[in-house]
Amino acid sequence: AETLGASAAENGRYFGAAIAPNFLGEEGYSSTLNAEFNSIVAENAMKWDATEPSPGQFTFTGGDQLVALAQEQNMEVRGHTLVWHAQQPAWVQGLTGQALHDAMTEHIAGVAGHYQGEITSWDVVNEAFEWDGSRRQSNLQTQLGDGWIEDAFRAADAADPDAKLCYNDYGTDGVNAKSDAIYDMVVDFQARGVPIDCVGFQTHLSSDSDLSSYQENLQRFGDLGVDVEITELDVGGSGSAQADVYRTVTEACLNVDRCTGITVWGITDKYSWRGEETPLLFDGNYQKKEAYEAVLDALNAA
Ligand code: G3I
Repeated sequence: AETLGASAAENGRYFGAAIAPNFLGEEGYSSTLNAEFNSIVAENAMKWDATEPSPGQFTFTGGDQLVALAQEQNMEVRGHTLVWHAQQPAWVQGLTGQALHDAMTEHIAGVAGHYQGEITSWDVVNEAFEWDGSRRQSNLQTQLGDGWIEDAFRAADAADPDAKLCYNDYGTDGVNAKSDAIYDMVVDFQARGVPIDCVGFQTHLSSDSDLSSYQENLQRFGDLGVDVEITELDVGGSGSAQADVYRTVTEACLNVDRCTGITVWGITDKYSWRGEETPLLFDGNYQKKEAYEAVLDALNAA
């Protein structure tokens, strides 16, 4: 097919982008989104600081706008993210013990409940592990202990039983200590009946990233019976080196049955969080880059 979304769909997959509602008024931004992608995720609009700026006071304006657009355009919506150590509102950062636990579960109930039935998969917990596989010593971890992750998944399952529930992280682009720790967590959750359906691999890469065990890593998670999703793909660099990395990641997803789709972390280089690294598929003028052609070719070759 002629577009990323249509070509991914021919392989039973989605191709999505992270979106900021404030750019939707820009013609190139909206037209590229609508033409090329069949899934969206909010880059920031569904995070804790955006959705619950004061305790129990929920604001869904940006997220609702994205969900409405997705429904109008027949796109899937990923949810990002219910619980994370970053982008917590100030009032959460000061909480301790049971008050923090209650705030977390009430936040999940409020947000996942609001979007119940509208989200294909939720990043329930984001970035809870360190490179060495130990738990990140966030306020959640130090205040609540190891059980906070499973408590978050149980709360999300109660709020939206039909959404797939994902654990999402970066630096998991191969078999390594961090992906091992996440793998062990999935095995443990499955053994104890804690709901988990998917693992998100953010896949923030550079042109020289080592992808020698990228596909093998996705496959071992798929073999556990969870979906795997490429959730925040971007690749610093340019030209054929950048295109090659994009192609490798796309092929890896297509080669793994349980890889349900790919999301790039933005549309255009000009609004990327890594802007100077020009990591996306469209340049600042919404022109298709060599990386775009590599991804499209890979999707159509499968
Ligand atoms: O909304 C305010 C705006 O009111 C203010 O004028 C402006 C001035 O700095 O800041 C705006 O907030 C910024 C927000 O992006 C929206 O642009 C924050 O400062 C900035 O920190 C925030 O950055 C986001 C970052 O997460 C926060 O950690 C990036 O856009 C977003 O791409 C990035 O996404 C994360 C994923 O959620 C998780 N994985 C890694 C990924 C990249 O860091």
